[in-house]
Amino acid sequence: MSENITLHDYEKRILKALEGKKSLSFAKLQEETGLSKDSLEKASLWAKVKGVISIDEQIEEFFELTEEGKEYIKEGLPEKNLLKAIDLGNKSISELKNIVKKFDIGLVWAKKNNWVSIQKGQVELTTKGRKFLKEETPEEKNLLLIESNSINNLDKITLEILEKRKLIKRYFEKKREVYLTPLGKKLLPKLVIKEEIGQITPEILKEKSWKFSNIRHYDITTPAPKIIPGKKHYITQVIEYIRKIWTEMGFKEMTGPIVDISFWNFDSLYQPQDHPARDLADTFYMKIPQKGRLPDINLVEKVKTTHENGWDTGSRGWQYKWDPEFSKKCVLRTHTTSLSARTIARLKLEELPAKFFAVGRCFRNETLDWKHLAEFYQTEGIVVGEEVNFRQLQGYLKRFFSKMGFPKARFRPAYFPYTEMSMEVEVWHPVHKEWMELGGSGIFRPEVVKPLLGKDVPVLAWGLGFDRLIMDKYNIDDIRKIYLSDLKQLREAKIWLGV
Ligand code: PHE
Repeated sequence: MSENITLHDYEKRILKALEGKKSLSFAKLQEETGLSKDSLEKASLWAKVKGVISIDEQIEEFFELTEEGKEYIKEGLPEKNLLKAIDLGNKSISELKNIVKKFDIGLVWAKKNNWVSIQKGQVELTTKGRKFLKEETPEEKNLLLIESNSINNLDKITLEILEKRKLIKRYFEKKREVYLTPLGKKLLPKLVIKEEIGQITPEILKEKSWKFSNIRHYDITTPAPKIIPGKKHYITQVIEYIRKIWTEMGFKEMTGPIVDISFWNFDSLYQPQDHPARDLADTFYMKIPQKGRLPDINLVEKVKTTHENGWDTGSRGWQYKWDPEFSKKCVLRTHTTSLSARTIARLKLEELPAKFFAVGRCFRNETLDWKHLAEFYQTEGIVVGEEVNFRQLQGYLKRFFSKMGFPKARFRPAYFPYTEMSMEVEVWHPVHKEWMELGGSGIFRPEVVKPLLGKDVPVLAWGLGFDRLIMDKYNIDDIRKIYLSDLKQLREAKIWLGV
């Protein structure tokens, strides 16, 4: 440490207080400097680091009487009371039990100390017992010393006994003695304590008072405690951003149940009842409730007939016997397309054209690995209207992904039971230099739309997964980590700013 170190006003006050003294205790120093405990604590640490004071720390031991300890001082220790009672001529245990308060404890200690002997239910004082009948016992002596705060003549072994008997409590206190170092002494004569400005205020600027006082020095390289502000979970942030994208494009949000009947998840989407996706191996069926109620009978009838023979959609249907019981089965929705089906069924022709989106959790019975979980998010969309076409579908999807930070998207032919054309959507990952498959899309078949809406109107539809985009944005290498409530990860996650 050099001599031209700068000292904070508080540090200077500490030095001044120590001037001409050998040392000061922390408590005394607090009194002399008028600083709060906290400020003194900090300032003295700094002064120590700067080498102008030294601090000698010692741990001191203190004792306090417990409630029971206080009671014994007032009423006598049970073993002493026992000695007195015996001395008065009461010898039989049964008698003593009645007379002496806490007789059992008294007897234990009197025996341990060899003050009494017992023969045939009779208690006799020993020579030692007779001695302590008149004299103060070590326990009594130490209890009284503690009561009067004279800690100098305490006896270690007795203290341990008293502590074990829970008559006293031991506690520790740090005692600090503060000394000036040679450097501190050297600086003292030059110290000027001047009002310091810690924070510039408009008044200080206006009155120009900063000209006449010192401005406090701050060391901006000092490590400061990390501040962890509250923030939304990053998945919530992404979901809100996705909502914003669709809403800005004029879409209305559709919401609906996570546990749904197979009718909405599969049948209304013209997915045949023996379709492999409906298998237990792919879909989670509910135990409770196992089944739910089917909607309006007319609608059910149309869906049934469409499955069986195409109804008047122009199709031949799947050519099998449709089972309403199978359709009532509750599932964890496997896609948010169930919400599109529900929405179209509620939609009136006068409301067209109409655009809807959804964001929600979906579930599939997948084998878990770093890129597959049994639950995931989808964002769904439909555009219903006579004028809509395939190019618009591509336009919406491209727009969405470019707002998500992936401006390059491409479409590949695919198959879904409910769409014709069907496309898979892929986006280009500029860093990994590969295409990522993120979802499906297409135009709903008449077998879906006509029973639900009553008329075959073109419906653009898509369902896109975005868990992998989240992984990518947040550098999460294992999809399972997305849903861990790992505070460290959550705290360090950057804020989603959109693109
Ligand atoms: N439901 C499909 C899936 O989960 C996606 C999709 C939605 C495909 C709408 C076509 C139309 O993969």
